[in-house]
Amino acid sequence: MRILLIGARGQLGRDLAAAGRAAGHAMLPRTHAELDVRDDAAVEAQLAAERPDAVISTAAFHQVEACERQPGEAFATNAFGALNLARACQRHGAMLMHFSTDYVFDGEQRTPYRESDRPRPLNAYGMSKLAGEYLLAANCQRHFIVRTTGLYGVAGSAGKGGNFVETMLKKAAAGEAIRVVHDQVLTPTYTVDLAAKALELLATERFGLYHITHEGQCSWFEFAAKIFAFAGLHPDLTPVDSATFASSVRRPAYSVLAKEGLRAAGLTAMPPWEDGLARYLQSRPAARG
Ligand SMILES: NC(=O)c1ccc[n+]([C@@H]2O[C@H](COP(=O)([O-])OP(=O)(O)OC[C@H]3O[C@@H](n4cnc5c(N)ncnc54)[C@H](OP(=O)(O)O)[C@@H]3O)[C@@H](O)[C@H]2O)c1
Repeated sequence: MRILLIGARGQLGRDLAAAGRAAGHAMLPRTHAELDVRDDAAVEAQLAAERPDAVISTAAFHQVEACERQPGEAFATNAFGALNLARACQRHGAMLMHFSTDYVFDGEQRTPYRESDRPRPLNAYGMSKLAGEYLLAANCQRHFIVRTTGLYGVAGSAGKGGNFVETMLKKAAAGEAIRVVHDQVLTPTYTVDLAAKALELLATERFGLYHITHEGQCSWFEFAAKIFAFAGLHPDLTPVDSATFASSVRRPAYSVLAKEGLRAAGLTAMPPWEDGLARYLQSRPAARG
């Protein structure tokens, strides 16, 4: 397949590029500087010039605090950017795979959210991503929307200045006292594993809305504790309530996703999140010295 990959310099984008090449696809990676999804004419020109079989977009404005301050910017990328991609893919007959988030949910459930559960985002980021889902689904027939949670990958998220695992390891190396929230529960997901599963899903052509994460769940505190256990470190780590950190942004307290769609499509589940974390720690550049 010829796959136009948008947001190719991000942490998921880098792993999708590698997984796509390994699977024998012709990957056409485009960084943010090369293609901005907010630019409708540029999106159309890329589709017309490259005639891809599929477009995969990881492009997002996802710093939640910044989205809250600049909702117009959040909607420009996350909603109208998705619309631009959807229309261009529909015009050119390309499949479109787009990534969304657990933050479309309010976090009031205590059992994993299914694809069919009603979204109710608490913040501007979640609202803009949900608007993107709706606009995309309404404008491109051959689409996949993939919601995921708590991503970390070797490339790190440029927008967030790294990833949670690296932040924890840096704090431990600096001898800092580390406080991590215990009242937000999710499933940390390694982008190498997500990329491989997303490409498997793309090949099925069973279009629709899917949740893809590792199996299991933990709080951010439990995630941090496992990082240190696997790394053989014993920093000063304390669980705290979300209220400890002053923030104007509401976040879901529970955003574990059930993967009913994957099962129905006949795809195997991803491994437990601890398994992904162990392999990430092995593969990160620092681990190789
Ligand atoms: N990170 C998480 O924990 C998480 C959780 C749930 C869902 N997701 C979703 O998963 C997807 C991938 O996230 P990620 O962690 O891989 O993020 P990432 O590392 O920040 O990658 C996103 C990429 O999109 C690019 N981008 C931003 N605005 C763009 C625009 N207007 N046009 C084109 N490209 C643009 C960014 O480029 P620049 O950095 O140069 O701006 C970056 O390379 C996103 O859709 C996100 O909403 C992420």
